[in-house]
Amino acid sequence: MNPLAARLARRIVRGGPITVADYMAAALTDPDHGFYQRADPLGSGGDFTTAPEISQLFGELIGAWLIDCWTQSGRPAKVNLVELGPGRGTLMADALRIGRQMPDWLNAIELHLVEINPALRKLQLEALSPYGPQWHDSLGTLPQDGPVMLVANEFFDALPIRQLVFWDGTWRERLVDWTAEAGFFFAISPKPSSLAFLVPAGLFAEQGSLYELSPTVIAVGTEIAQRIAAQGGAALLIDYGKTESGLGESLQAVKAHRMVALLDDPGNADVSAHVDFSVLRRLADDAGARPAGPVTQGEFLNALGIGVRLERLKRDLPTGESDDTAAALDLAVQRLTMPAAMGRLFKALAITCPAIVPAGFVPTAFGPPSS
Ligand SMILES: C[S@@+](CC[C@H](N)C(=O)[O-])C[C@H]1O[C@@H](n2cnc3c(N)ncnc32)[C@H](O)[C@@H]1O
Repeated sequence: MNPLAARLARRIVRGGPITVADYMAAALTDPDHGFYQRADPLGSGGDFTTAPEISQLFGELIGAWLIDCWTQSGRPAKVNLVELGPGRGTLMADALRIGRQMPDWLNAIELHLVEINPALRKLQLEALSPYGPQWHDSLGTLPQDGPVMLVANEFFDALPIRQLVFWDGTWRERLVDWTAEAGFFFAISPKPSSLAFLVPAGLFAEQGSLYELSPTVIAVGTEIAQRIAAQGGAALLIDYGKTESGLGESLQAVKAHRMVALLDDPGNADVSAHVDFSVLRRLADDAGARPAGPVTQGEFLNALGIGVRLERLKRDLPTGESDDTAAALDLAVQRLTMPAAMGRLFKALAITCPAIVPAGFVPTAFGPPSS
């Protein structure tokens, strides 16, 4: 048994079964053994690959999106450029590179990175040192003044979720239990959950139906929306997830690019869950900010002109550069945009102040969003 598993087993023996959220929080962020406290998990040698690591076009288009939001808000002299969970810093480095021709933009930004992983903080410093980044453990210490331009790619899916099970006519908490004979296993609380009121009315639940919700997503989403309503600016949230709340399990564990059993090896596999974008939309509305979307990642990138940018990149390849490079660029864009790859499952949602109409969520010069 690995050290985190032993620690969790002792906790369960002492205090009884824990919620799925408690298990997920420990598996991902335990200060000594959590998955996101260890070395760099990204890339082909790690556990999973993300969109910015697939193509520079992803970060570059987000850079253009941020500059457009900044321009629409009157080119303020200071903005807090924030990224939640920046990974290797690739997205932000690509986004800022396309701003090189715009000194006013680069002078205006103060770069804030919310990151808990010390190994990734080091890589972020290597990628972003010219921009003088400041790190935060959470959103709470971000500046309270000046507009916020915030990006989060595959951040919300790593926040702990709770699972409710419909059992004998009531919603009950799904729990993680442990015994020496069985190891970790799922159990159901004997009493109804106090969170049952959060399950949307009208869902047709049967014995064993599962509903996932995340108080942490609600807290972080509320903080973003309230800051945008109070300080101005825009947020772009991209993640895999669903447009409407619904029943079903999305929690999964991935290790070395393969799905593994959820409870087998806590701390050594990435555990994530689909984001419910309808909840983030409602939070934005409640806070007095404006939600746009969600649209699929394919729709978003196509509307921002990823096809045009791809053709320009290929045209500008140095002479003698092999056809293989052009083919690899094509393949990367297909991976990001095709419905059967990341194009449909991943979604983009914008939350903005009223002055900003975010690009990619409405018809543009490149035509209406299409998948
Ligand atoms: C799936 S990775 C995505 C990385 C990057 N955004 C990308 O697209 O390549 C999740 C990122 O969020 C960070 N992270 C996970 N949980 C976090 C938490 N609770 N607070 C701050 N950062 C967290 C991870 O260390 C990592 O940088």
